[in-house]
Amino acid sequence: MKEYTITAHIHIYQYEELCEPDRQLIDAAKEATKRSYAPYSHFAVGAAVRLSDGTVVTGSNQENAAYPSGLCAERTTLFYANARYPDQPVQTLAIAARTEKGFVEKPIPPCGACRQVILETESRFKNPIRILLSGEECIYEVAGIADLLPLSFEASSME
Ligand code: THU
Repeated sequence: MKEYTITAHIHIYQYEELCEPDRQLIDAAKEATKRSYAPYSHFAVGAAVRLSDGTVVTGSNQENAAYPSGLCAERTTLFYANARYPDQPVQTLAIAARTEKGFVEKPIPPCGACRQVILETESRFKNPIRILLSGEECIYEVAGIADLLPLSFEASSME
């Protein structure tokens, strides 16, 4: 038997410790939660991406009475950013979430499907995406999706 250990590096920050552009991106993700359409879960998620040229694109989760037809904030945002600016690599992604009680205390992690789409976006632009997971207690930062999606399936897996 052999063992294969995969490590993830997560940096933990207080909001005040972040650089101004990162604070602005988190603020934009929080602001985007206000445009969430979540009448079923009442869980409002917002995402904001900064592209290589500095453009910031935001999005939020959009639910549907036929539940699987809805879409998470991260994918709404990434698909829109890629559809609108197909030549601009995504540099940083910030995610925030709010319940009826307020913004979540713990950093909000992206779901598995969103992780897969973040991976595809990295592959598409051959550029790692820094990810900021916002919580009121602290903010998690990872340098790329590999820290959140180890042993991933991608195009090269089919070669
Ligand atoms: N949601 C997101 O927008 N992003 C995630 O990464 C996790 C879940 C949304 C989907 C749904 O509208 C609500 O949160 C509850 O799952």
